[in-house]
Amino acid sequence: MQLQRRNRILRANPAIRSMVAETILTPADFIAPLFIDEGENVLFEIPSMPGYYRRSLDGTVKEVQELWNMGIKSVLLFVKAPDELKDNTGKEAWNPEGLMQRSIRAIKNAVPGIMVMTDVALDPYSSYGHDGIVENGEIVNDPTVEALVKMSLSHATAGADFVAPSDMMDGRIGAIREAFEEHNFTRTGIMAYSAKYASCFYGPFRDALDSAPGFGDKKTYQMDYANRIEAVKEALMDVEEGADIVMVKPGLPYLDIVREVKNAVDVPVSVYNISGEYAMIKAAAKMGWIDENKAILETLTSFKRAGADLIATYFAKDACKLLS
Ligand code: PBG
Repeated sequence: MQLQRRNRILRANPAIRSMVAETILTPADFIAPLFIDEGENVLFEIPSMPGYYRRSLDGTVKEVQELWNMGIKSVLLFVKAPDELKDNTGKEAWNPEGLMQRSIRAIKNAVPGIMVMTDVALDPYSSYGHDGIVENGEIVNDPTVEALVKMSLSHATAGADFVAPSDMMDGRIGAIREAFEEHNFTRTGIMAYSAKYASCFYGPFRDALDSAPGFGDKKTYQMDYANRIEAVKEALMDVEEGADIVMVKPGLPYLDIVREVKNAVDVPVSVYNISGEYAMIKAAAKMGWIDENKAILETLTSFKRAGADLIATYFAKDACKLLS
């Protein structure tokens, strides 16, 4: 055979492969989600997320120190509110002494350099387990946006670097940005969950925070997984309203959306490698059906290849170890 081009030359050995690799993961790509609970010395393994824990604040602070020392630059905080603090207004969400607000302060105090991002949505505080206020069986948009603004301001006051609205209400990014300007929070960023789909893969997360919806589903606010163009519309609107970073969520079944959004916007794009995606890899690895470490790196690389600048992932720590 006489060939003009032999593509295998660039795949012949590890040296040449690493020289021509188009996508390289680094710890700075990762955002580590953390689940925080009240109490002391609490270390609760989430049953549907083996190897992942909900911790009290003491253990969380130590964990953040460890993540920072490994090169991770950002954490995304979620808290579990006790049932007695849940109601339909979600008002615990902006309690200045709430668990989220205390956590932000403690983490920034212990590890000032790390970017603290906070989940903004009412579901952990809602007696209905929905991301917004419920009236006559409906999740009402505009009153919910008012609540999200109060919640965001309280996170900014506590020292959050970025708020991350994950609720999918209309107009919330603009309203939060306007409130930040009014209150002189000119250094607080917004990472918008712009294209968040109504997904069955959130199941393990809702176990982690005991935040499953009490009735119905989230399809009147989260996106229909049949849609692609709509994701671009959502992302462009959020950028116009003042989002600093836009997110696509879930990750693996939505790599096409990551690329589509990346090509459309001029801000960094993040992707959320969510709880169900974590659980699937863990389960298959436990059965001996896939190699866990290889699956982690292949999965995370696929996000970056698809166009993600940042990856929120429960594998952040594992990946850092594998990369070092
Ligand atoms: C809540 C929220 C959810 C996730 C992040 N923020 C769940 C939901 O919308 O029901 C999911 C994260 C994951 O599954 O890992 N607004």
